[in-house]
Amino acid sequence: MAADSATHAFPLPAILEYPSSTPPQLITQGAEGRLYKSTYLLPSIPCALKYRPPKPWRHPVLDARLTRHRILAEARNLAKCRREGVPVPTVYAIDESAGWLMMEWVAGVPVRAAINEWLQRRRDAERAEGRSGDAIVEGTRDADADLVALLRRIAAAVGRMHKIGIIHGDLTTSNMMLRPWERGKEPANGHNVEGDGLLEGDIVIIDFGLASQSTSEEDRAVDLYVLERAFTSTHSRAEKLFTTILESEYREAFKQAPIVLKKLEDVRMRGRKRSMLG
Ligand SMILES: Nc1ncnc2c1ncn2[C@@H]1O[C@H](COP(=O)(O)OP(=O)(O)O)[C@@H](O)[C@H]1O
Ligand SMILES: [Mg+2]
Repeated sequence: MAADSATHAFPLPAILEYPSSTPPQLITQGAEGRLYKSTYLLPSIPCALKYRPPKPWRHPVLDARLTRHRILAEARNLAKCRREGVPVPTVYAIDESAGWLMMEWVAGVPVRAAINEWLQRRRDAERAEGRSGDAIVEGTRDADADLVALLRRIAAAVGRMHKIGIIHGDLTTSNMMLRPWERGKEPANGHNVEGDGLLEGDIVIIDFGLASQSTSEEDRAVDLYVLERAFTSTHSRAEKLFTTILESEYREAFKQAPIVLKKLEDVRMRGRKRSMLG
């Protein structure tokens, strides 16, 4: 049903017109592209197809070249992460001329949704106790342990990605998925098993559409700054906690990490000056 309307609204890439056990499902429609869920490979294996349709307002030859370059870059950066043990979806297939990239479907929810839900529950609990519910999350209460552990996993995943020379370019909590741990196979990384399970799971970094390769401390610091700003604007009650944990966890990720964090202070300063100038 949903796939039908999607088909009418915009043409599907040819690969999604092939017979498959379930119709392709449009998950998101961004400025640059669309993301479909499909079972094209095997009924039991869902996959994510990222499609960048032609942009009628661009010159067709330039548009095709740009799309090709971006898809190839995204696939290359995903493949490099995968090879080097950074948790990202596996690339299954690619047709850069047709404008699509097919990859592993990551089960779970975006980190943004999980954190927002957690903050909402906390607010409700505080209100039930007669408090305002707007308290800053300090990370010191027992109940905060799950969030602290999640923020550590985020910082560690970003650190691993930077270590192998990848800059993400669009780090936000929407571009990270929380893949649930398999029942009965909980990893021995000291997470809080008493919690409600909302924040449990492995961080999987997605959306390498703006990624590039660099080991420059400046580029890495800007990547962190983008994440910090995104985090601050979406989960402001946990902003300080995030910064503290990012700094302590990222610092351990690789040799030059302390230099990157020093640079991050400069980048923040420049950002503040810029916003004062308006
Ligand atoms: N491999 C995947 N598995 C599951 N969901 C995905 C996957 N890739 C993307 N998504 C979902 O689709 C959304 C858009 O994909 P993304 O790569 O971020 O594209 P965009 O460039 O449009 O932001 C993501 O925020 C996520 O919710
Ligand atoms: Mg995205």
